[in-house]
Amino acid sequence: MSTQLELIGVEKSFPIKDGVRPVIGGLSMTINEQDFVSIVGPSGCGKTTIFNIMAGLLEPDSGIIKYRGQIIEGVRGKVGYMMQRDLLFPWRTVLENILLGPQMQNIPEREAKENAMEYLYSFGLAGTENSYPKMLSGGMRQRVALIRTLITNPDILLLDEPFSALDYQTRLYLEGVLIEAVETFKKTVILVTHDIDEAVALSKRVVVLGGRPSSVKKVYDINLNTRSPIGARSDPNFSGYFHDLCAELDIQTSERNAS
Ligand SMILES: Nc1ncnc2c1ncn2[C@@H]1O[C@H](COP(=O)(O)OP(=O)(O)OP(=O)(O)O)[C@@H](O)[C@H]1O
Ligand SMILES: [Mg+2]
Repeated sequence: MSTQLELIGVEKSFPIKDGVRPVIGGLSMTINEQDFVSIVGPSGCGKTTIFNIMAGLLEPDSGIIKYRGQIIEGVRGKVGYMMQRDLLFPWRTVLENILLGPQMQNIPEREAKENAMEYLYSFGLAGTENSYPKMLSGGMRQRVALIRTLITNPDILLLDEPFSALDYQTRLYLEGVLIEAVETFKKTVILVTHDIDEAVALSKRVVVLGGRPSSVKKVYDINLNTRSPIGARSDPNFSGYFHDLCAELDIQTSERNAS
């Protein structure tokens, strides 16, 4: 298992009224080739900030980022970043939104369109290509944003709460679509989620952030017998991981409340 991406001693502060607020402090993590890593931690602990640093949109105050052993500024160009809010352009249709990336990569229009239509079909969005984002439900918009991230064929997908606005049924379905897509195309995924259940079901590893400023508190290796999102949730080891993570994050489960 070789290392693809490495963060070493990353620190980041933001200016506030009377000084600076340290958000990330001495954060180190390793992402392997074809890894599926979830990052969990309390709201405001800096998960999106870490993604912005990985994507090269924000510069860390100190620390090193290495991609396949080389020190780099940020993995821009190698990552597809699906931001926390879907950020589709309202004046562009679904298809025009999806084709933005391929246009920037100079992919021939016909090829890009065919590819886009295939994605729309497999994500259950056939027939929406000429709609504008405001005509779609939140869940449909998230699917379009996910397609837009996948279609540029990045090495690493950074997904910031991609399924948070979805009903449970759609979420399970899309988790399956995502797992299948990343296994077929051999992608690395880094996922930020508030949903411990989702982190355990999808990931090979779960990274727990904590402290002020945040750093890696603990890394869990997840070993379940299946990678299907529904199968994973009924794996005999699932609930053990779930409870350990809840305890680590200090989330009170009803069992603990009752005792
Ligand atoms: N550009 C910025 N300027 C100033 N402060 C910022 C900036 N970006 C983030 N912050 C602050 O840094 C902290 C971490 O923000 P971040 O968005 O990374 O948290 P998060 O873990 O993604 O939270 P959530 O789970 O709610 O999405 C917050 O206190 C936020 O207000
Ligand atoms: Mg965030």
